[in-house]
Amino acid sequence: MKKKIRAIILAAGKGTRMKSETPKVLHTLCGKPMIQHVIDAVRSSGVKDEICVIGHKADLVRKYLGGAKTVVQEKLLGSGDALNRTRKLLKDFNGDILVLCGDAPLVKRETLKRLIDTHSGEGNSCTLLTAIAPNPTGYGRIVRDDRGKITGIIEETEASVYEKTIEEINVGTYCFGGSDIFSFLSELRNNNKKGEYFLTDVISLIYSKNLKIGSVETDDYNEAIGVNSRQDLSIAEEILRGRITATLMLQGVTIKDPGSVYIEEGVEIGKDTTIYPNTIIERNVKIGERCSIGPFARIRPGCELRSGVEIGNFVELVRTEVGDGSKVKHHTYLGDTVVGRNVNIGAGTITANYDGKKKYITKINDGAFIGSGTILVAPIKVGKNAVTGAGAVVVKNHDVKPGTVVAGIPAREMKNKKRERKR
Ligand code: UD1
Ligand code: MG
Repeated sequence: MKKKIRAIILAAGKGTRMKSETPKVLHTLCGKPMIQHVIDAVRSSGVKDEICVIGHKADLVRKYLGGAKTVVQEKLLGSGDALNRTRKLLKDFNGDILVLCGDAPLVKRETLKRLIDTHSGEGNSCTLLTAIAPNPTGYGRIVRDDRGKITGIIEETEASVYEKTIEEINVGTYCFGGSDIFSFLSELRNNNKKGEYFLTDVISLIYSKNLKIGSVETDDYNEAIGVNSRQDLSIAEEILRGRITATLMLQGVTIKDPGSVYIEEGVEIGKDTTIYPNTIIERNVKIGERCSIGPFARIRPGCELRSGVEIGNFVELVRTEVGDGSKVKHHTYLGDTVVGRNVNIGAGTITANYDGKKKYITKINDGAFIGSGTILVAPIKVGKNAVTGAGAVVVKNHDVKPGTVVAGIPAREMKNKKRERKR
């Protein structure tokens, strides 16, 4: 039977270097808070149970985490002290403990699985996740003896000139064998330049007791990136963005200029859809097959575009559905709108969905033709195959009947006009 395992995510730190009112772990990458990336990686690696150690602005972080298990570190005395705060909760636990930093959002689930399996397979007291960094500055360095055995971790602030040349870094992700770790944590001292209890100091304690220390190296150095500043945040986000576009391209989506396209996590896009440059697609968006999106389009949360849809430049959509084969090609805003099939939305169409208090729905039925510059004041329905003239202002609750033509401000039915275009 597999050993039990629990994850502890250290997320109490102040994040001083972020210079922010927002707790560091709540800063978002590709639409998702940093800590959620870590939680998702933990859960998808098969570890079902996690505890987050929170401290700085604990209320805000707890509120975000909802019902998740948390422990508060009242005084921010260092990462070693943070882990020690879980002592009571884990006193009867004898499985493995996976420890992660809430500010390392790029660790992949496959790597976590590899770490956990190596740890239990080798029967280690501690297994470290390491990476070979092209620029190790700022990270803890892995110190090994002549035979390659890990003897400890030295933090940047404590490292000698020689130790600073070590390229193997501590990712901040560890597996420990059960509650033994707490006896080592009690032995930690804070006699370093920061005056903190460094979790990394337990490694040399474990070594001095002749216990087995193992390591797993990441395949990809980028997984190790810890976010301590806004610059780190932008680097980490760029890497994540690259992962998202790479996955979509592998699934058959054409992305003309991945570097200028911003797609958030969880967006679904069907095959043979083309995404043109400078397009933003936010979380909770689903796009079908054979669509064409952008350039310069922004698809905000809650949108679903079916197949063969064309969204052109300077179009913003939010909480909007667009049916098969419909076109929304230039300078348009659609909010809280349901667009049927084969609808043409003319340039500069606006749905006025908000009256300053509430938001309302616009429904544009199959085959409708919305003239350029139409303003549709919600709540409003445009019937099947109906037409609005250029510049029409269709006022709320004055639904446009199927097959009719309306024009003017406020829009009125043009009784002598019939729709010319038949589908
Ligand atoms: C830490 C590691 C370093 C590693 C790097 C990887 C230590 C001492 N050093 O450095 O070896 O290379 O991460 O990114 O751990 N925290 C608390 N309470 C505290 C202090 C920190 O919960 O009192 C949490 C932070 O929220 C953070 C994590 O512990 O998630 C690490 O702390 P941080 O200050 O970011 O340490 P680094 O300097 O990045
Ligand atoms: Mg850090």
